[in-house]
Amino acid sequence: MTLARGLRSNYCGELGSGDIGAAVALCGWIDRIRDHGEHLSFIDLRDHTGIVQIVTPRRNDLRSEFVVRVTGTVANRPEGTINKTIATGEIEIHDGEIEILSSAATLPFSIDDRLDVEEITRLRYRFLDIRRDKMQRNLRNRALVNSAIRRSLEAQGFTEVETPMLWTPTPEGAREFLVPSRLQPGNFYVLPQSPQIAKQLLMVGGFDRYYQIARCMRDEDLRADRQFEFTQLDLEASFVTQEDIFAFIGGAIAEIVEVTRNVQINEIPRMTWFDAMDKYGVDKPDLRFESPLIDVTEILSPLGVRAFSAPTIKALLAPVRESFTRSRLDALIDRAKALGAKGLAYFKVVEEEDRLAFESPLAKFLEEAPTLSLIERLGAEAGDTIFVVADEWKVATTVLGQIRLELGKELVSHDQLAFTWIVDFPLFDGLDESGKPISAHHPFTMPHADDFEFLESDPLRVRSQSYDLVLNGWELGSGSIRIHRPDIQSKIFQIIGVTDEEAQSRFGFLLDAFKFGAPPHGGFAFGIDRIAAIMSGEDNIREVIAFPKTQSGLDPMTDAPKPVDAATLKNVGLTLAPKK
Ligand code: AMO
Repeated sequence: MTLARGLRSNYCGELGSGDIGAAVALCGWIDRIRDHGEHLSFIDLRDHTGIVQIVTPRRNDLRSEFVVRVTGTVANRPEGTINKTIATGEIEIHDGEIEILSSAATLPFSIDDRLDVEEITRLRYRFLDIRRDKMQRNLRNRALVNSAIRRSLEAQGFTEVETPMLWTPTPEGAREFLVPSRLQPGNFYVLPQSPQIAKQLLMVGGFDRYYQIARCMRDEDLRADRQFEFTQLDLEASFVTQEDIFAFIGGAIAEIVEVTRNVQINEIPRMTWFDAMDKYGVDKPDLRFESPLIDVTEILSPLGVRAFSAPTIKALLAPVRESFTRSRLDALIDRAKALGAKGLAYFKVVEEEDRLAFESPLAKFLEEAPTLSLIERLGAEAGDTIFVVADEWKVATTVLGQIRLELGKELVSHDQLAFTWIVDFPLFDGLDESGKPISAHHPFTMPHADDFEFLESDPLRVRSQSYDLVLNGWELGSGSIRIHRPDIQSKIFQIIGVTDEEAQSRFGFLLDAFKFGAPPHGGFAFGIDRIAAIMSGEDNIREVIAFPKTQSGLDPMTDAPKPVDAATLKNVGLTLAPKK
């Protein structure tokens, strides 16, 4: 049954041989006109469901992208003209009468997925760009993601609650967008970088299981997976453990994958943060291919070679077997140096007489025994290449981890989906200039139950009850079990150097709330732009956002951001400083 109504009886893409003989009224855009002799035209009429061919007396007043209403009769296409590449290829509309509803100037680019149009032009005319099949598909896929989330979470007892867009600064690390207050000149709201504190207050408010498809704003540098405005599936629940959060989110993810990819996923595997770093050199490993980093300190360290005099020596068997050229190797070495390593050693495994040996500038330092141990440890064969970085653990793993990704690129495709939970993150992420620990997630994260004793003595050793969800090398989301006790929260603030006064003035309302009976609670948020992009096979989240900003934060369609006049500024109590 058709959902069409109003000016039309049907949608273009839904007609088929079952409709032969039906009188129909269709609306849409003229995709293409082909004149056939002096008297006849074939017109491809397009709407969001597809294309149908109209056979009509030739007219000279029609052009591509005119908006028209067509009435006519569905008929079989003559033998030999059936088009198997489109869904309506067996039929056409005869005796088409065409009413022009609106004309169209010549478009800056054709509505054709096969054309490579410069992105700035696509964004300048985004309303035309989204007429294209790919953008139609991507945005509709994204809508499927949202509805899958709602279905899954509501079935799991979650209630959607909206939280304010005019909010107050929160300590989550991103720079926030300021909104001047007209009624309170000199004062500012901020746009929320996430509903983090609001959702914790909902827990104090007895909401038990909250979710929201929440718009968030962060004034950060833009990248392929980052926009100023983005959307999170944000959730929080009371009286739960990490396991419960994994089950809630796992359910929603399974539903998303099912509706967008039509596949069932198994339970999402887990890895500790330490293992992720140690084996893959990143906290968001791309597990579409294996190729772990292997510790070879024991094999190479005793050789006394200067290039290997470092606390940790990690090796990687190149995930692809290729004859690395000199220039390719140089590029990889440069990349390793740019990432902070002193160098990148390589060993090509070759067959020499009847045994395996290395081809490498360093080969002369390795006698037969260490050569064979290295080959055996890596499971290498003739034709393979082994890369080695010797450095502090963090440098060796992260640099070789990036080399792994670089080399693995050609092995992966968007058809694969490799999810993993990363658990047991450190609570702090190094020290700031004043020597104070920096919260790795946010300062409301509960320390790991076994590590409380090290909070003051050895803070960098403390693990947290926080976790990330990773998909194909992208961080999809993060969450944690929160601190719900004011005494623990004060202690964390004290450790990261937030004074009592500061804590009170910035989020006194949260600390106050915790005094009035706060349930233990925890939650999670994942990026809907990111999951929608991956499910649609895109590398950039702009491809799944209707009206995104460019890399430099501009909207080429509206020209935002724009100057405002002095009167508007005065209204909100602001004057601009003279330009330097
Ligand atoms: P976090 O800051 O890790 O956690 O954000 C969660 C997820 O939101 C997405 N995301 C973004 N997507 C596009 N553009 C951006 N600029 C951007 N920034 C973040 C990512 C990220 O994993 N309040 C916590 C969650 C919690 O603890 O419950 C939070 O916001 O996919």
